[in-house]
Amino acid sequence: MSSKFLTLVQRLTKRYIHSSQSLLSGEYEYQDPKSPNDIVNVTFIDKEGKSYQVKGKIGDNLMYLAHRYKIEIEGACEASLACSTCHVYVKQNFYDKLPPPKDEEEDMLDLAAFLKSNSRLSCQIILDKSLDGLVVTLPAATRNFYVDGHTPQPH
Ligand code: FES
Repeated sequence: MSSKFLTLVQRLTKRYIHSSQSLLSGEYEYQDPKSPNDIVNVTFIDKEGKSYQVKGKIGDNLMYLAHRYKIEIEGACEASLACSTCHVYVKQNFYDKLPPPKDEEEDMLDLAAFLKSNSRLSCQIILDKSLDGLVVTLPAATRNFYVDGHTPQPH
């Protein structure tokens, strides 16, 4: 086993232990927007090309919003940046509006299947008004390298 792989496993294990103490639940995303001004429209396109238009709101985490509407984004590590199963492609004009990915996100994207230049981890995208009309597409498949193969169940 290569030392690079071992280092990665150690890092993921450390993140898992840390994050399991403070998991983000996604409860906020299950609340409806309080006013029309809060609405951020999002279109998810699944791997079969089927389109889902949903009304998110300012502050929503894109991955948990997808879970609310039963869109197949796995999110194995529950937003702790220890997997790449929340991988999406962001339409270029919106990709350019996002803050650049953190090093930890880049590390996980390096492990993602079907990586493209507009790939991001959906659990790291927080909606704001500038993202109204956001379009994201799910990749053909994701790879679950999470330490215990955990797959969370949507609420
Ligand atoms: S859910 Fe694991 S990095 Fe997003």
